[in-house]
Amino acid sequence: MSKAKIIDGKAFAAELRGRVGDTVAALGRDHGLTPGLAVVLVGKNPASHIYVRNKNKQTLEAGMNSFEHNLPVETSQDALLALVRQLNDDPKVHGILVQLPLPDRIDDQAVINAIDPDKDVDGFHVINAGRLMTVAKGSQPPLVPCTPLGCLMLLKAEIGDLSGQRAVVVGRSNIVGKPMAQLLLQESCTVTIAHSRTRDLPAVCREADILVAAVGRPKMIEGDWIKPGAVVIDVGINRIEAEGGKTKLVGDVDTEAAKRVAAAITPVPGGVGPMTIACLLANTATAACRQHGIEPPGFYTKGR
Ligand code: GUN
Repeated sequence: MSKAKIIDGKAFAAELRGRVGDTVAALGRDHGLTPGLAVVLVGKNPASHIYVRNKNKQTLEAGMNSFEHNLPVETSQDALLALVRQLNDDPKVHGILVQLPLPDRIDDQAVINAIDPDKDVDGFHVINAGRLMTVAKGSQPPLVPCTPLGCLMLLKAEIGDLSGQRAVVVGRSNIVGKPMAQLLLQESCTVTIAHSRTRDLPAVCREADILVAAVGRPKMIEGDWIKPGAVVIDVGINRIEAEGGKTKLVGDVDTEAAKRVAAAITPVPGGVGPMTIACLLANTATAACRQHGIEPPGFYTKGR
């Protein structure tokens, strides 16, 4: 018997993209401004190619300019840094995203930190990570990493006020786990970051009113790790073998088992995934507004 509500990230993301599109149309009409996003991909990682293709498609659909840079796998770090500097100086480019992972020889953090922090729509620059940690209540939030931002929007739409909730984030990556924990802390949750060395992980997860799974291990979180009535956000996108020699996508949570215990859960696919690109578009429109001294609309506050 399943009882959990399935959180429709696909519909939520479509609605957010619609609001971004309305803003982009108004920026063109009132200010002659078209936000532009540059996406840089090095090499031929198949998953990255699919992500980048979707980013470009949805950027254009929102009425923004998309500048795609596909570089060969042997590209040097110096050449990549030179491209980033060129994009920093290009007034038509308001957001820059360098798709990760980069080839091993390239220092990811050196490349990310070469991006102008005001164009860092991934929110990965050390300045934006620091701003997220230190932002004062009521002051302008920095550009925030897209996946955790999307998770937070879904949580607020589902729960409303998050203050006092016990949140457990499983995974400590710079892309998801750490910024997710910061965002939940800002919402006055009591936050635990759990990871591969955490002792008795099932018991830690069972404490969570809000459980965010971002580990990249198929169905690792089992049904009896979940507190009855919890809200579960599954960030995992894992491709596994299915029947008939096919493959399928599953999350980090055993969704069928979790549905019998949780109050609400995001599906995979169709949960967090679509929110990431929608938040990237919202960040790009926000960055364009700020670079032109225009007050950006509150894309992120719906459901608060
Ligand atoms: N690789 C996986 N997720 C992301 C992301 O959100 N941004 C970038 N740049 N690369 C990624």
